[in-house]
Amino acid sequence: MTTITLHPDFRIGPIDRRLFGSFVEHLGRCVYTGVYEPDHPTADEHGFRRDVADLADELGVTLVRYPGGNFVSNYVWEDAVGPVEQRRPFLDLAWRTIEPNTIGTDEFLQYCEREGLEPMMAVNLGTRGVAEAVALLDYCNGEGGTHWSDLRIANGREEPYGVKLWCLGNEMDGPWQIGHKTAEEYGRLAAETGKAMKLVDPTIELVACGSSSMYMDTFGAWERTVLSHTFDVVDHISMHAYYEELNGDRASFLGSGTAMDRFVERVVASADSIAAERRSDKRITISFDEWNVWYLESRFVGEKNLPIQRDAPRIIEDHYSGLDAVVVGDLMITLLNHVDRISIGCLAQLVNVIAPIMTEPGGAAWKQTTFHPFATAARLATGETLNLQVDAETITTERHGDVPAVTAAASVDPATGALALFVTNRTAHEQIVTLRHPGAGVRIDGGTAVLADHDGARETQEEAEAYGMVDALPAEHGDGTVSLRLAPESWTAFHGTLTT
Ligand code: AHR
Repeated sequence: MTTITLHPDFRIGPIDRRLFGSFVEHLGRCVYTGVYEPDHPTADEHGFRRDVADLADELGVTLVRYPGGNFVSNYVWEDAVGPVEQRRPFLDLAWRTIEPNTIGTDEFLQYCEREGLEPMMAVNLGTRGVAEAVALLDYCNGEGGTHWSDLRIANGREEPYGVKLWCLGNEMDGPWQIGHKTAEEYGRLAAETGKAMKLVDPTIELVACGSSSMYMDTFGAWERTVLSHTFDVVDHISMHAYYEELNGDRASFLGSGTAMDRFVERVVASADSIAAERRSDKRITISFDEWNVWYLESRFVGEKNLPIQRDAPRIIEDHYSGLDAVVVGDLMITLLNHVDRISIGCLAQLVNVIAPIMTEPGGAAWKQTTFHPFATAARLATGETLNLQVDAETITTERHGDVPAVTAAASVDPATGALALFVTNRTAHEQIVTLRHPGAGVRIDGGTAVLADHDGARETQEEAEAYGMVDALPAEHGDGTVSLRLAPESWTAFHGTLTT
């Protein structure tokens, strides 16, 4: 028997809309034939696919991180601005792909402006350093009268872009990273780069690289060392996490959200230990700028040692199942339950590469299974997250130990009373949940759910499009309680109202 207790006075905090971000990296077909394909029948006058932009809009994406990812760690941004015909292709070592540089900073930032997306830029701290980061920031945000801001103006863009969010490199703890660094080396470089960038534009927010995953050997020590150098200059620390079903261990995969919870709690503890040492009230928040289901260990292996690629190769194009959709929904529950410390989230990535949207060159764009829980949460989770008490049985998993069988998050919009309740059933049987709501009236008007299916990944467009959300089982209202029924292995989003 599972009980969820919802009290209107117990709140975690406001939901930063930047939680519903995504990520566009120059990787495989994310950019070329993903967001950008000038010969496509739906291409706009700038060469960007309208069908993809419309799906991104329906997905509810608010922010996009760019240009990487591993790609950024050997990127020469100067080669991708100015007249396109004069741009020099380069060999991107992260993905061993020849990058034509057709799309660069201006094209991306203007795309964001047209589509109403907030850009989040990353600077290269792998092969480059302070000077190039400062130059890029000045190019983007400078008012004119300097070499770099005048170059932007000469390239046709008078108004500064005013980019607010900047990542100081990407996954610098990873030995795979071009220009990989120790925590000490990276911490010093990030602190100096951040200091200089804030001298160019004090209004920006900076993200220091945290660990690439909780399972890195350096996890914990990395955060401590990096923040001991950067605490005063940065605003956020990054987290990255990808989950997959390994060796048929379905229970652990379904419990991924609990692993993500623990990861967040540990990073928060690390950041706050630095604050405590300094007797500081500053709270570093989290930019969870890469998260998703990714069959990294099980499917990616064969793609690691490819010969040099060109023309937007099909790499890391995972196809998702209903089970993957349930896990993505559950990971969103974790993000929502930590809005007091997570300011930014990026589902990695937006198109084709481990993405909710797939495309065919010259052809269709369609939704993967994982599109549905993200779009539903982005639409329904408004206002503030409530601090629920969830009492559920536990499941013992191989990878994460005991995890709750049912997880939940709820949001309420203080202006309208609109209530959303997101609930995952990690078990293979139906669950009856009693929602107790002392101190408030609750009306559940309906719900929609994603279900795990047992058919494996939906490989083709037809298979993916045959998958959709289903109506939730009807809620029954009692005196001070609502009885909810959850389908086996499902993620459900209920909507209704909260009255106090
Ligand atoms: O999102 C794919 C890759 O995963 C990114 O380039 C990198 O940052 C991470 O390891």
